[in-house]
Amino acid sequence: MSEALDYAKWQIAEHMTKVLNKLRNDESPEVPVKDLYATIERPKEAKMGDYACPCFRFAKPLRKKPQEIAEFMANELNENPGDWLEGAETVGAFLNLRVNMNALSSYIFSAVADDSLFKKVAELEARKKVMIEYSQPNTHKVFHVGHMRNVALGDSLGRLYEYCGHPVTMANYIGDEGTHIAKCLWYIRKNSYEIPVEGRGEWLGEMYSKASIMLEDAEGDDKQRLKDEVSEVLKEIESKDGDTFNFWNESKQWSIDDFNEIYDWIGARFDHWFSESEVSEESQEIVTEYKDKGVFVEDDGAIGLDLKDDKLGFVLLRKRDGNTLYATKDLALARRKYEQFNIDKSVYVVGSEQNLHFKQVFKTLEKMGFEQAKDCFHLSYGMVVLPSGKMSSRKGNIIKFNDLKDALTKEMNEKLAKYKGEWTEEEIAAVNHKLCVGAIRYGMICSDPAKDIIFNLEDWTSFEGNTGPYLMYAYARTKSIIKKAGAQGLVANASHSKLLKEDDERELLRFLNDFNNVVLQANETNRISTLAHFLFNMCKCYNRMLSNVSILKAESEELKSARLALLDAFAAILKTGLGLMGIETSERM
Ligand code: ARG
Repeated sequence: MSEALDYAKWQIAEHMTKVLNKLRNDESPEVPVKDLYATIERPKEAKMGDYACPCFRFAKPLRKKPQEIAEFMANELNENPGDWLEGAETVGAFLNLRVNMNALSSYIFSAVADDSLFKKVAELEARKKVMIEYSQPNTHKVFHVGHMRNVALGDSLGRLYEYCGHPVTMANYIGDEGTHIAKCLWYIRKNSYEIPVEGRGEWLGEMYSKASIMLEDAEGDDKQRLKDEVSEVLKEIESKDGDTFNFWNESKQWSIDDFNEIYDWIGARFDHWFSESEVSEESQEIVTEYKDKGVFVEDDGAIGLDLKDDKLGFVLLRKRDGNTLYATKDLALARRKYEQFNIDKSVYVVGSEQNLHFKQVFKTLEKMGFEQAKDCFHLSYGMVVLPSGKMSSRKGNIIKFNDLKDALTKEMNEKLAKYKGEWTEEEIAAVNHKLCVGAIRYGMICSDPAKDIIFNLEDWTSFEGNTGPYLMYAYARTKSIIKKAGAQGLVANASHSKLLKEDDERELLRFLNDFNNVVLQANETNRISTLAHFLFNMCKCYNRMLSNVSILKAESEELKSARLALLDAFAAILKTGLGLMGIETSERM
């Protein structure tokens, strides 16, 4: 229940319910507070008021005309607005309400100060155990900028769930078997390449790309011959014995070591690692079991499931050569997640090119009688493209993680160069790192996940516009004002909050009040972009306020301290919001 998430609205609803029920006669039922709470909304335009209440909802139970109800309410509320309202106005059957900003700010300031604001959502939500599977890179392949979108989305989704009270297990699922690996190992062997001393993970990725290009380019008999060679390598790996198998085992760790470095750099958490090779055998058992049960059928030597009635085609689960498939392994994985971890919900963060795959997997699970199939959710997302178009190893325009990191660091170093001498080297490096992470994470999640996005280093690292650094800068700016105030002996004082009367201050307070609701909404829709969008607008409002009202030069000491209290609350909420996106703030930049 998210009923009282907006505390101000609840207080207003309570007061209004008493007024509204004065209109009842003996036959009409009492209108409960929660009905009013549910009816009161944000008006389309801020200038119309802080909340609006469409009175149509109450016409039937009260047997009165909506407009009559609105007028009655407005009169009564203006006469006796209670602690939380300032006044009310009617527009037709709408009641536009102005909040008492003194009550609102006092509440927000104290709830931020004692941290209770940030625990509210978790207290209201029913706790569901959630597993978020994300990143899932394939070993022996290049980890590039496109993969970062998954990491940014998955990691922040986990943070959102946790904020909303759900125990979360963050899981990885490494693609450590299959043809792509055979191709890579085949190419290395064919060219008798020496293993480099450093950068082995990345080197494997390059070898894989070259192998794919070579195989694609081959023609006629040659093509078949090379393919056969790759199949041979695959068999050697699958034999679980011998040099090729051992090399597979050793080399996949090089990729995994690289992945771990990347996760450390960006601050992504994993509580458990699954791998494809680990569920392979179990997936064979599932095929046999459900073939015997008559759920899966044989078709021309292969085994699968006919999902044509569900418009999902035929799902192949065991090839004629007896080999298991990607989809088959997902059946074993899904089962394991629920059995081993006792979860209530399973989220898969995977690109939209696998939409059909997950529909098939979830449907197959359902046909197998796996009840939890309904609690499996595929968070699908679009591609990351470059301003010049799609990335491709053939064109050589793939931005590898390390190149991305170097380019970002260089860009930020230029921006921070002015602090050389003034700040220590360590501080510059630390702020640089935070900014790089903030830029990339924010760029990856600020758009609707379903949409393709264009990676543009210059835009994403800018301190202006809809970027991570812009939001981080708003925080640092606030902290610097608070520090300056402190040096002048000024401190925040929430008890003067009735002095906050400017429109900009009002608007900012409304943003602060909406924070929890937005987080909950982002969580319920699995859309972190909703939060990004909100924080961006909140910071725009904040910066507008700073250009219109002065903090340190305000008319009175009381007003200064009231505005400082507003800044404190803004900073705390922004920091929490950024934290949900995995972005760390810095006190100065
Ligand atoms: N490793 C796979 C790939 O790169 C993604 C795995 C997604 N997760 C899953 N449970 N199928 O395509």
